[in-house]
Amino acid sequence: MTLSAAPALQLLDSRLEVSGGLKLSGELRVSGAKNSALVLMAACLLSRDTLRLRNVPPLTDITAMGEILAALGVQVTRQGDCIDLDGEHITQAAPPYELVNSLRASFFCIGPLLARMGTAQVPLPGGCQIGSRPVVEHVKGLKTLGAQVTIEHGVVTASVPGRSKRLRGGHIHLDCPSVGATETLMMAAALADGETVIDNAALEPEVIDLARLLNAMGGRVRGAGTPTIVINGVPTLHEADYAVIPDRIEAGTFLLAAAITRSSLTVGPVIPEHLGAVLTKLDEAGCRMVQEGTNLRISAESIQAFDLRTMPFPGFPTDLQAPFMSLLATANGTSVVVETIFENRLQHVAELQRMGASIRLQGNTACIEGVARLSGAPVRGTDLRASAAMVLAGLAADGVTTVRGLEFLDRGYANLEGKLNAVGARIRRLSDPA
Ligand code: EPZ
Repeated sequence: MTLSAAPALQLLDSRLEVSGGLKLSGELRVSGAKNSALVLMAACLLSRDTLRLRNVPPLTDITAMGEILAALGVQVTRQGDCIDLDGEHITQAAPPYELVNSLRASFFCIGPLLARMGTAQVPLPGGCQIGSRPVVEHVKGLKTLGAQVTIEHGVVTASVPGRSKRLRGGHIHLDCPSVGATETLMMAAALADGETVIDNAALEPEVIDLARLLNAMGGRVRGAGTPTIVINGVPTLHEADYAVIPDRIEAGTFLLAAAITRSSLTVGPVIPEHLGAVLTKLDEAGCRMVQEGTNLRISAESIQAFDLRTMPFPGFPTDLQAPFMSLLATANGTSVVVETIFENRLQHVAELQRMGASIRLQGNTACIEGVARLSGAPVRGTDLRASAAMVLAGLAADGVTTVRGLEFLDRGYANLEGKLNAVGARIRRLSDPA
């Protein structure tokens, strides 16, 4: 009997080849926010009706979330940037392990599943390249709402004791303003019996987007965007047709493409209050910006150094720390960057150093001395924002920069190279057998 060898897994060497030194001009369109769309998709589990979400970005994370919801029994229908999520028949309360492993945001299912079904079993999301990513606050809050929660063999099992199977309102104080914990507990509380108060809640725009969706579904959420959110539980939530906010992190990345190439670009839609700290830093760097309706026009000739420290919203967003460091690597003068949100989100420093950046790293602090020109080199993005930072650095470098780590990039940016090439960049996506 001959055993046919199993076909070898075809490893592909996917990469972007970025040609540096080109000026950009034109308009960059901003997609819907990944970090809002993912949690809004999970909210469909709270209702037996169909939830229609518009302006959903075409990202691999969104596809993965759709697969996880479908595995739970949700009918998922995608039409361009519109997704219909019919949660009438939830067939199980435990998303498959192999799917959950591919997407941390799948943990967003635990709150709505518990609220809807009275039970949920979701693998721990685990850490990633940027940090341990604990869910302690999520679990503590669910217990305050009356759930029994155990964590065994890497799986979080939650259930609501008693006949009603319904969570009860409670007073939750978060030890840290965790975005994911705030959103998880808002969804759990939406169907709970009574009033829930979340103190020290995250203030991010994506939290406000979720509150608006829950209210559009018949929920009673107030105070989103302030440190204290009050949710009065309702028996059921109904259908809604809702558009996701623009992606402030993608918008910031596009603004940086103009700044790092010393070009003028129009970026939109941009909601200025979502980018307050970012626009302040670009202004400090010497960029000129004019808001034209929902678009922001930016131009840059010379970039001055500036310091930045990542903080919870409305402070400077950690998701733009790496992309901004690429800009600072080419600025006039010395900058200090402090990463206070994640314990391991400075891995892009080594990659920028390969391109000739002058950076000294001490713990969570990087001291960057701007250089006249970066030099193109083979580099790798270690998380989705670091991958974007490498593309930006490549736009400004002499020669060609080869960027690997596209599996991260494609999670947060839809066709980044296509969008940048349309405004004058020269980026090729190559993929051949490794
Ligand atoms: C969300 O992650 C975003 N992801 C992240 O974007 C973003 O960087 C982060 O918020 C901060 O703004 C999504 O929305 C899908 P956190 P989340 O809970 O909810 C600590 C990207 O690039 N913490 O606010 O996981 C935690 O360790 C991604 O798009 C606890 O200590 O972030 C971290 O240091 C990356 N205990 C800090 O809080 C907890 O129980 C912020 O985490 C929970 C969190």
